Amino acid sequence: MAVVPREIIRLQKTESTNSVALELGERGAIAGTVVVAQAQTGGRGRLKRYWLSPRGMGLYFSIILRPELAPEHLPKVTLAAGLALCKAVEAEYSLPPEIKWPNDLLLDGRKFGGILTETGFLHSMATERKPFVVIGAGINLFTPEGGFQNNLQGRATSIADHTDRTISAEPLLMAGISAIEQEVLRLEKGDFQEILEEWMERDGVKDKVLTWVTPQGKKVTGVSLGPDADGLLRIRDGAGNIHTVISGDVNLVGKGPE
Ligand code: BTN
Repeated sequence: MAVVPREIIRLQKTESTNSVALELGERGAIAGTVVVAQAQTGGRGRLKRYWLSPRGMGLYFSIILRPELAPEHLPKVTLAAGLALCKAVEAEYSLPPEIKWPNDLLLDGRKFGGILTETGFLHSMATERKPFVVIGAGINLFTPEGGFQNNLQGRATSIADHTDRTISAEPLLMAGISAIEQEVLRLEKGDFQEILEEWMERDGVKDKVLTWVTPQGKKVTGVSLGPDADGLLRIRDGAGNIHTVISGDVNLVGKGPE
C-alpha cells in the first residue's frame, strides 16, 4: 500500500461514515480516501452497537485502505489502528490513553474512542474480488452537558475531561490519519510483533479479571494475558486453562457489558 495523496470528503451529517466509505471503496475510491462527518445519525460500533455522534462533540471519520496483506492478517489492522490513534492522542494532547482489546480507547479506565474495521470488495468485471478495508474511528472530544446517558454513564469519557488544552477535531483528524497510515505500512512490512509490543505498553486491562462468553455460550472468567502473536486476546481462568478470544467482547469484572 503506497501512501497516496489523500482525498478528504467532508460531510455535515451522514448516517455512518463507514457506510459512505464502504460504498466509495466498492466503486474504486483510492486508498487514503477519508470520509469525515460533523454528525452521524446511525453511527455504528462493533457487535452492532450504536455510536452516539452528536454534532460538534466528537471526531467521526473513516479511511479506506487497500493494504497488501493476506486476508487472515486483516484483523491485525484493528490493533494497528488502535495503537495509531493512541499515538495521535498522545502527540496532540500529551495524554496517556490505553487500549482495551480489541479496539476501545480509554482514559482513566473509561472509553473515549472506538474503532470499527470493516472489509469491502471492489466491484469489478474481473472474477478476482479485491478486498479493501475501512477503518472507522469515533472519538469523544467533549462530554455532553449533563453527562453521557444511561448505560454509558460511568463508562464513557471525552478528551476534554482530561485536559485543559484547546480541543479541535481537525488537528486530531490529520494526526490520526497519518498515524493509521504509518502503522498499517509497518504491518505490511511484517512488523506486527513490534506493533504488538507498543500496543501492549498501552494495554489497559493486562492482568485484570475479565469475563468472556464463548461462541458456545459458556462464560469464562479469568485474568487477561494480553494478545497473542496473532493479536487474539488470551485469558487464563482459575483452573489455569488459557482461552483465546476469537469473537465477541470481553468485560472487566464489576463493569458488566457495555
Ligand atoms: C466501537 O467502539 O464499537 C467502534 C465505534 C466506531 C465508531 C466510528 S464513528 C466513525 C465511523 N462510522 C461509524 O459508523 N462507525 C465508526
